[in-house]
Amino acid sequence: MSIKTIDPSASPEWSALQNHYTVIKDTPVKVMFDQDQSRFDTFSYTLGNVLFDFSKHNANKTTKEHLVQLGQACGIQEHYGDMLSGKPINHTENRAVLHCALRTPLNKDLEIDGENINEFALKSRRQIQKISDDIRSNPQISDVVHIGAGGSNLGPQLVCEALKGLQSGPRIHFIANIDSQTIRDLFAKLNRRTTRFIIASKTFTTAETMAAAKMAVNWAGDMSAFYAVTAAPEKALEYGIPEKNILPLRGWIGGRFSTWSAIGLPVAVALGYEQFATLLEGANLADHHATSTPLEKNIPFMMAALGVWYRNFWDYRAHAILPYADSLSKLPAYMQQLDMESNGKAAPVKTGPVVFGGVGTNVQHAFMQFFHQGTDIIPCDFIVPVKNRHADPVMQKSLVANALAQSRALMNGKESAADEPHHSFSGNRPSTTILLPELNAKTLGILMAIYEHKIFMQGIIWNINSFDQWGVELGKQLARNIERALIEGNLSEKHDSSTENLIRAMLKME
Ligand code: F6P
Repeated sequence: MSIKTIDPSASPEWSALQNHYTVIKDTPVKVMFDQDQSRFDTFSYTLGNVLFDFSKHNANKTTKEHLVQLGQACGIQEHYGDMLSGKPINHTENRAVLHCALRTPLNKDLEIDGENINEFALKSRRQIQKISDDIRSNPQISDVVHIGAGGSNLGPQLVCEALKGLQSGPRIHFIANIDSQTIRDLFAKLNRRTTRFIIASKTFTTAETMAAAKMAVNWAGDMSAFYAVTAAPEKALEYGIPEKNILPLRGWIGGRFSTWSAIGLPVAVALGYEQFATLLEGANLADHHATSTPLEKNIPFMMAALGVWYRNFWDYRAHAILPYADSLSKLPAYMQQLDMESNGKAAPVKTGPVVFGGVGTNVQHAFMQFFHQGTDIIPCDFIVPVKNRHADPVMQKSLVANALAQSRALMNGKESAADEPHHSFSGNRPSTTILLPELNAKTLGILMAIYEHKIFMQGIIWNINSFDQWGVELGKQLARNIERALIEGNLSEKHDSSTENLIRAMLKME
């Protein structure tokens, strides 16, 4: 492979950033605004009317230059070349990474395993369109239950929830967990004759998904009510799903990058295929931007580089996602998987931060106290849909005003009288503000894909594979043995002493 694989901390660009850190660390951002009247313009970028403002970060023009040099030294462009030409950059699974092809046509001759990538993408979109049209136009269908875990759940759930104001098809429900109480409660509200099911699992083996699917099959009693989205169609067929109801995935579509594939079927069912296509259009815009914009003006690169800057030079360990809209309440969980499953990997330098978040106005009454006065600093992203045609205009202004108040308070802080230290805010706490003129399929597509590119670019800088997830495997394996011990009530298999005692305690509690 042609990619450069360097230990970033051994590079002169890394050392330059280290030196620069010692120069800049005591200059508050508000002073940088005083020093540079054009700071907002220098650090704000627009894509498809979405504004990304990075001016409230501990960075000046020199920082940006150093970060760009690091990005260049790490070979961002070369890695993109390898990804988009279908090289198996997910090397631990020997897989290409081509989710971008689902929304942006790539080299027309690109083939994986003898199949043309663009033709697959087109065929997949046609199938999504046909099946979603059939379901939507069938007056006998009132509800669709999507069963899937992780990347086979979070993306479509986020989009359906975010755009629920545009809902025009059957009601969509999501089951992601093996918690049978939730599943029973849901089924109690549904009519088995008018409900359809989508079993979404790339592998068609995920324990939670298969257990929930089994409950659904028992409850519905009719396999013609089932659809499957999977890269293992033979398993779905064997399971009893009618062949015409199976939508294929491919190995080159990673789970947490799969909303753009048939995993997004519930989006097309709930909102109509046009909206799904518009989501892809937004993502396509982000792809063009990420792949063709020089690093100094590249939005996902700025996000990635600032993340590295804080993680590795300022030792900030967490990152918060703070949407200012209830309809984006699923965004933090989606970003958490995207970021932590991709970049929570071992490397010679510190890698991905802890990612968490919540709807801004709610978390202002929960954990934002820590952000303002806590002893750790947590960079955050304020994500603000400005207009909302479904909302009261005055209340909408109050909602978005809160986002600006928070970011301003974090940056400026507040001095207090010496005898009132509890009124003191140190300030100089960094944040990005992302303004979406409104939340719609296009702006959401832009937002989601920009974060995908951020994650990949960060992985490049840290020299990790952002596309595997071996860290989840050990727990899955051990759960199988423990489950056997709990079901059979027998401890013949060797567990460590702590686990064994906890199993015994659980068995006694039953
Ligand atoms: O949590 C691990 C994981 O492998 C995710 O990467 C994936 O999105 C999820 O499980 C679901 O996998 P599948 O689609 O194969 O059921």
